[in-house]
Amino acid sequence: MKSPRKKRTVKKKDQSRNVRLKAAKHLIRWVDSGQVVYGPRESFISDSDYTFYKHLMSGVVRHWRRLEYIIGLLTGKPVEKLDKEVLVSLALGLIQLEEDSRTEPYAAINETVELPALLNKPYLKGFINANLRRYTRDRDSIRKDTERQMLGVVTSHTDEMIDRWTRQFGAERTEQICNANNILPQLQMVVNPAFDKQAVISELQKQGFQVDDVHETGFSIENPAGLFDTLLVNRGALLVQDRSFQDVNKLVASLPKTRVLDLCAAPGGKLIHIEWEYAGEIELLVACEISHTRLNLLKQNLKSYQSKALPVQSDALAPPFGIPFDLVILDAPCSGTGTIRKHPEIKWSRSPTDFERNQKVQIQLLEKSADLVKPQGHLLYVTCTLENEENRSVVDQFLKERSDRFQLVRLDSSMVDTEYLTDDGYYQCLTSADRMGCFAALLKKSVD
Ligand SMILES: C[S@@+](CC[C@H](N)C(=O)[O-])C[C@H]1O[C@@H](n2cnc3c(N)ncnc32)[C@H](O)[C@@H]1O
Repeated sequence: MKSPRKKRTVKKKDQSRNVRLKAAKHLIRWVDSGQVVYGPRESFISDSDYTFYKHLMSGVVRHWRRLEYIIGLLTGKPVEKLDKEVLVSLALGLIQLEEDSRTEPYAAINETVELPALLNKPYLKGFINANLRRYTRDRDSIRKDTERQMLGVVTSHTDEMIDRWTRQFGAERTEQICNANNILPQLQMVVNPAFDKQAVISELQKQGFQVDDVHETGFSIENPAGLFDTLLVNRGALLVQDRSFQDVNKLVASLPKTRVLDLCAAPGGKLIHIEWEYAGEIELLVACEISHTRLNLLKQNLKSYQSKALPVQSDALAPPFGIPFDLVILDAPCSGTGTIRKHPEIKWSRSPTDFERNQKVQIQLLEKSADLVKPQGHLLYVTCTLENEENRSVVDQFLKERSDRFQLVRLDSSMVDTEYLTDDGYYQCLTSADRMGCFAALLKKSVD
């Protein structure tokens, strides 16, 4: 008779095989369609399975070009000639051998070589096995070879993107951005001012969370597994907010804020943080969002953080508001190239056409937002992209048209760390080890 322990082991093994299979299928879909669609959390038995799945998916997507190069070296074949099942199985195997300290190399190989059979290509098993074993044998020389390749291969970015950033920011900054894009995103949080920050930190540490980079309003957490089930999060003491967005929210500190409108509000991070920081000053806070699904997410967040903001479903290009606002925030839809750390698929899916198309919408949105600002009120334009077309060019074009009513408020070192100040008075943070890429411009409306 089999012991129950043995049965459990088999079940666990099947389960982790299933996670790899799901990742393989979703990666094949990505290779076919260019669309990364992550499976929902509910489709996994446990948090640890889901974490492992996301680690595999985002690891392969993040390092795709380098993995393709290594696969070419191992197989001696142009990757275009390989079956997508081979490419994806080898990429999954390599990411486990390179990055997954939790799985022993032999286990990673043994599990990965089962993938072709599960993908209806059992005859590929030997080929996958031989190449993964070759990798473990020749790892050092393969690494040395890969490190000598061009930046696009070493850091897995397209040459077009590297050329663009080099033209915009120079070679050194571009290399820093590319390296930063491969650092796993930190979980950065701000503390609700209604709670004592030190007490929150002590409680988190007592529960085994590693709190780092403590600063005026928040900190980062290095081992967040389980954090969102804690009482502290459930009671609304903590909000996820990247450091660059924390900087941006400080830009409005000294401005009048009786009536505030966030025109592109979901999921609500900036809005809730602004409400926390400036609670005593705000009398009316409106959260506008076009997407029904994202509006629901926004509503859920507003509820769980007991926000007083009023959610409104509307297209910001046809806003229904009859009153002007002291402060209008336009956190515009953009290409998101500043968020590649969190969304590595952006590396492979953006092109100059996207930047130009976004620019047109951003200018229209900025023009509409302008009508909603009170005389002497302010308009804060924010994006999470690095691309000039969507940042400076949008604001320049807007100001050219509306210089009669709007002027740029040149940011200075009293408002933002000089590291992120541009010569012409914008906030620009290029992706780094502790910040997502982000751009902001503050505009002021003149009197009637
Ligand atoms: C960058 S996200 C906003 C992030 C949000 N401010 C936060 O901090 O959580 C942009 C949002 O704008 C919404 N959006 C895009 N076009 C819009 C439009 N024409 N009117 C209103 N919302 C729009 C998108 O659905 C998306 O939720």
